[in-house]
Amino acid sequence: MNSNNGAIQLAISLLFSIWCTTCVAGQSGNAIYNVKDHGALGNGQNDDTKAFQAAWDASCAIEGNPTILIPMGSYLVGPLHFKGPCKSAMAIDLRGQLLASTHLNAYTKDWIEFQYINGLVISGGGIFHGQGSSAWPYNECPKKWKNFDIESVTISAPGDSPNTDGIHIADSTNVTITNATIGTGDDCISIGPGNSNLNISNVHCGPGHGISVGSLGKNSGETDVVGLTVKNCTLNATTNGLRIKTWQSSPSRLKAAQFTYQDITMNNVYNPIIIDQEYCPYISCAGKDPSRVQIYDIKFTNVKGTSSSAEAIKFICSSSFPCQGVVLNDIDLRYTGDATGNKTTTSTCANVRGKSNGNVKPNPCI
Ligand SMILES: *[C@@H]1O[C@H](CO)[C@@H](O)[C@H](O)[C@H]1NC(C)=O
Ligand SMILES: *[C@@H]1O[C@H](CO)[C@@H](O)[C@H](O)[C@H]1NC(C)=O
Ligand SMILES: *[C@@H]1O[C@H](CO)[C@@H](O)[C@H](O)[C@H]1NC(C)=O
Ligand SMILES: *[C@@H]1O[C@H](CO)[C@@H](O)[C@H](O)[C@H]1NC(C)=O
Ligand SMILES: *[C@@H]1O[C@H](CO)[C@@H](O)[C@H](O)[C@H]1NC(C)=O
Ligand SMILES: *[C@@H]1O[C@H](CO)[C@@H](O)[C@H](O)[C@H]1NC(C)=O
Repeated sequence: MNSNNGAIQLAISLLFSIWCTTCVAGQSGNAIYNVKDHGALGNGQNDDTKAFQAAWDASCAIEGNPTILIPMGSYLVGPLHFKGPCKSAMAIDLRGQLLASTHLNAYTKDWIEFQYINGLVISGGGIFHGQGSSAWPYNECPKKWKNFDIESVTISAPGDSPNTDGIHIADSTNVTITNATIGTGDDCISIGPGNSNLNISNVHCGPGHGISVGSLGKNSGETDVVGLTVKNCTLNATTNGLRIKTWQSSPSRLKAAQFTYQDITMNNVYNPIIIDQEYCPYISCAGKDPSRVQIYDIKFTNVKGTSSSAEAIKFICSSSFPCQGVVLNDIDLRYTGDATGNKTTTSTCANVRGKSNGNVKPNPCI
């Protein structure tokens, strides 16, 4: 997400706000709360908000890890405020499609908001459909998530819709995203400040801006991003693949460290591997002092496929806090080709320390 100016976000995005408190996971049971039993019709016409809210309220009040089942069908819902604390961890088995109301005045905040919940799993391969530009409410900065799993979801927005992150995560610990298909106009998965222990696997991204850490270092009070694993993911026709971006003249000093990117397939990606510590999405940016975000211990292993630009690897690190421990293992990125059919890719390095092992194409600059 590049800016957060309160403008209406276009189209579909998945934004959950979770403030965790004192919920304790229960052990026994495993009750199923089917939204249809609470009055949802799932015909895409009827407003099923009340039924969803009722299913939530009932399941939130019981112990034993209840599951809210949303069967196949189209459910017009929202805004929904799934609020805890609940008696135990919650699960949502989303098989159908959720449609956002297109009446913007129905919203005061987010379309679907989760709050005060400790332990939430969303699975089932269903769809969050925001119904285009009118539907997405004002962007509120996501708050605390903790112990959160996202599994088997599909998120899509047109590639040309501005500022529609698929999943944005900030200030979160222990988050897993697996088996997701995400196509958007902005970041596929955007990892903001304050995250630790985040695992992303089996995700297919495209179109969009790829899997991005950052932008970091824009605002004061930002905290570190530590512990990220991205495994077995495919990026198809995205502008960036694996990206870390930080602003210059950062007001706060923080670190981005211990990232592992492994078994990644690039398909026609413009910047497959990029660290950009001079991030400036505007024509010009106010600050020109080197970024104060320290990036270290970043491993790229088995990253293969095609780049739609010749420069497949780009590390532009901070001159004040050079990147440390950047490791390239077995990289094979081929240029989709210039007019002469030259498939050679290149790499660019500034202020980066690390090493490369195994076969690395392009010829590594570290
Ligand atoms: C992955 O998600 C798809 C739908 O997006 C679902 O059909 C499939 O069963 C899921 N696979 C696993 C292993 O969860
Ligand atoms: C995150 O997970 C680790 C390992 O499972 C656990 O020790 C830690 O307490 C968790 N952190 C939070 C904030 O829940
Ligand atoms: C993420 O993966 C790492 C390494 O595989 C593991 O140690 C950690 O517990 C995982 N974290 C979560 C939140 O699943
Ligand atoms: C990698 O992800 C694909 C889908 O994106 C999945 O079909 C495959 O099973 C995954 N492989 C592993 C080893 O998890
Ligand atoms: C990859 O992206 C291209 C261009 O947007 C699209 O035509 C193709 O279907 C995509 N392939 C996959 C596997 O998503
Ligand atoms: C192919 O492109 C690379 C990188 O731009 C360049 O160094 C090389 O000379 C080119 N090869 C030919 C045959 O033009």
